[in-house]
Amino acid sequence: MTKQIKKCLFPAAGYGTRFLPATKAIPKEMLPVLTKPLLQYGIEEAIEAGMSTMAIVTGRGKRSIEDHFDISYELEHQIKDTPKEHYLTEIRSVINKCTFSYTRQVEMKGLGHAILTGKTLIGDEPFAVILADDLCDNDSKAVLTQMTEIYEKHPDCCIVAIEEIPKEHTNKYGVIAGEEIESNLFKVNNMVEKPDPKDAPSNLAIIGRYILTPEIFDVIEQTPPGKGGEIQITDALLTLAKQGKVLAYKFDGKRFDCGSVDGFVEATNYFYEKQNK
Ligand code: G1P
Repeated sequence: MTKQIKKCLFPAAGYGTRFLPATKAIPKEMLPVLTKPLLQYGIEEAIEAGMSTMAIVTGRGKRSIEDHFDISYELEHQIKDTPKEHYLTEIRSVINKCTFSYTRQVEMKGLGHAILTGKTLIGDEPFAVILADDLCDNDSKAVLTQMTEIYEKHPDCCIVAIEEIPKEHTNKYGVIAGEEIESNLFKVNNMVEKPDPKDAPSNLAIIGRYILTPEIFDVIEQTPPGKGGEIQITDALLTLAKQGKVLAYKFDGKRFDCGSVDGFVEATNYFYEKQNK
């Protein structure tokens, strides 16, 4: 029987240099789109997909993440039984629905390394990964929920979410090539981290949603540094793709690159309009 995915890993150790000076003392994952931190959107997506253990890989200066997903007794006491109490309803519900565990990535050696750092929190079971700065929205079914449904049919495979991008942007993403085996589902046979447009195998870019089988940890351990001298999850997945064990899913929904100022503003406008509809 397929193992149900209960854990979701959030790499959250990066410096957020593109958002300096805002990210000097505040983790980029805590920057709010409207009133909600980016990371909370990701956690809510994981909860919607049926996950209840949130494993967060943090780094120095990220203590506010732990405080956010905890009770603030002082605040609770101050606003209890006042008209402001409803402001805490959403975050309280998140805290009640799942548990949080943390580990620190001591050195920034790439996304593959960050995921490997999370092994101690995940253990020997399939898990999801959300990169919180890729903010996704879908009114009917969250992207991660769509992916878990595919995983249930292909339990030996890792799954990456993909999106068509303009070819000139391939150097910002992991890019895949594959054979479409069902509508919007590809069996991956090649993947390259941030290729120049002229070397890109397609215009299908990986976005920050993954479902990984635990064998990925051993593979990452064997994966040498790649693009930028970092250990890349894309390179580790290529090893499994060559064994026919990686699927890429062109998801249904919207995605905002909140790692860039443009994408962040776009997301803010989108959620503001949605809220005021
Ligand atoms: C990471 C991955 C890349 C992927 C991207 C999605 O890159 O390395 O393969 O396409 O996330 O957002 P980063 O954006 O962290 O540089």
